[in-house]
Amino acid sequence: MGFPQKSHPRETTVLSKHFGDPDARTLAGWRNRGGYRALEQTLAMEPAAIVQMVKESGLRGRGGAGFPTGVKWSFMKPGDGKPHYLCCNADESEPGTFKDREIMRWTPHALVEGCAIGAYAIGAETAYVYIRGEFTEPLERMTEAVREAYAEGILGRNALGSGKRIDVYVHKGAGAYICGEETALMNSLEGRRGNPRIKPPFPATAGVFGQPTTINNVETLVAVPHIINNGAEWYKAMCLGNAKSTGTKLYSVCGNVRRPGNYEVVMGFPFKEFLYDLCGGPPAGRRFKAIIPGGSSVPIQTIAEAEATVMDYEGFVACGTMLGSGGVICIDDAQCMVKQIARLARFYAHESCAQCTQCREGTAWTTKIMERIEAGQGTAGDLDTLLDIADNMTAKTICVLSDSCAVPVVSGIQKFRDEFEAHIVQHRCPFRPATAAAVAA
Ligand SMILES: Cc1cc2nc3c(=O)[nH]c(=O)nc-3n(C[C@H](O)[C@H](O)[C@H](O)COP(=O)(O)O)c2cc1C
Repeated sequence: MGFPQKSHPRETTVLSKHFGDPDARTLAGWRNRGGYRALEQTLAMEPAAIVQMVKESGLRGRGGAGFPTGVKWSFMKPGDGKPHYLCCNADESEPGTFKDREIMRWTPHALVEGCAIGAYAIGAETAYVYIRGEFTEPLERMTEAVREAYAEGILGRNALGSGKRIDVYVHKGAGAYICGEETALMNSLEGRRGNPRIKPPFPATAGVFGQPTTINNVETLVAVPHIINNGAEWYKAMCLGNAKSTGTKLYSVCGNVRRPGNYEVVMGFPFKEFLYDLCGGPPAGRRFKAIIPGGSSVPIQTIAEAEATVMDYEGFVACGTMLGSGGVICIDDAQCMVKQIARLARFYAHESCAQCTQCREGTAWTTKIMERIEAGQGTAGDLDTLLDIADNMTAKTICVLSDSCAVPVVSGIQKFRDEFEAHIVQHRCPFRPATAAAVAA
């Protein structure tokens, strides 16, 4: 499972430093590498001081939205007399994204430690790790790490002898994209159908079991022990100029690229250098045509936009897209954009929970029209219809799955309109060799 582990001299391997090293998976091996020192330090601190430190580090959520983690933690009100919960979002279902599973495969104790620190900081005694159903090996690694941590008294009623209680439970999901949405995740955790909830109330007020809850991505939580060990200033310094985006980021790279895999670079790294030097550029004889840099839900970039991008939250926005989950999907010039976008639309139609009409109908209509165009049966009015449907799918639903389906369609039509029109005018996909029958016609 997964791509071979590698690293490039231009990478800054903080979170991925021990990827590929089986000894780091064990508790003894993890402790030899400095594991659980941060938790020990944390348990001697006031929770508010930890929240402040994470705020100062500039750490932002790595699950997609980039919300400042310390600020999110500060929404959990201490002393409200209610049980608090931390949920770690290990659902990782965004197409193109496969970094969290590698964190769990190679460094499961890093996540146990991140969860324990996060739980303590928000006044929770319980953390849940919600793992995607298909992640068999990460589930095994996490279950074993939690077992070891209990056996050694790191977790439990008297965590590390501190007199404080911290429990971590590993929960297996059933493999539904929508269960990565934080409120659907909480419903699923409670044993209900994984449908997103209407907000407000927000999770910090009424989350899992109706109690104050914080949800954080795997990569977000594993960054925290490093901040505790090395300080907020050290973390903040890991950026190439933009103080709003700090630390390192893991990118999963896939598609038409010579060296697919996970890469960790500091915020602000030049995307051009990343794509060509670290990832090896496109396959021989091909050129990159488009890049989807943040998982399938972010706008598609032309290669010219991608090459001008600085890899941080603001840098991706400035070049017409978003950092998202860091799932970099490379598309070369031999690929049909209509086909790629039709495939994404089908994914979203399949994964819609169908609660909201705009999403249920919109994802299905979009898929039908996209597949019709791809098959050479599109009409001149189809592009306007697609844009109209996309407009009705954006900012109108309980969660943003609907918006995510509209995004590649709108950006695809904006940036690759000629390919759409060629399908309609030629009544065939120009990327497929013409059949004898079509030529005769
Ligand atoms: C349809 C949908 C799927 C999502 N899937 C994931 C996911 O697999 N993993 C994840 O961390 N966040 C996912 N998110 C984002 C979460 O709702 C949430 O914002 C995130 O887990 C917060 O963690 P962070 O603040 O550490 O980024 C998804 C959101 C939506 C709308």
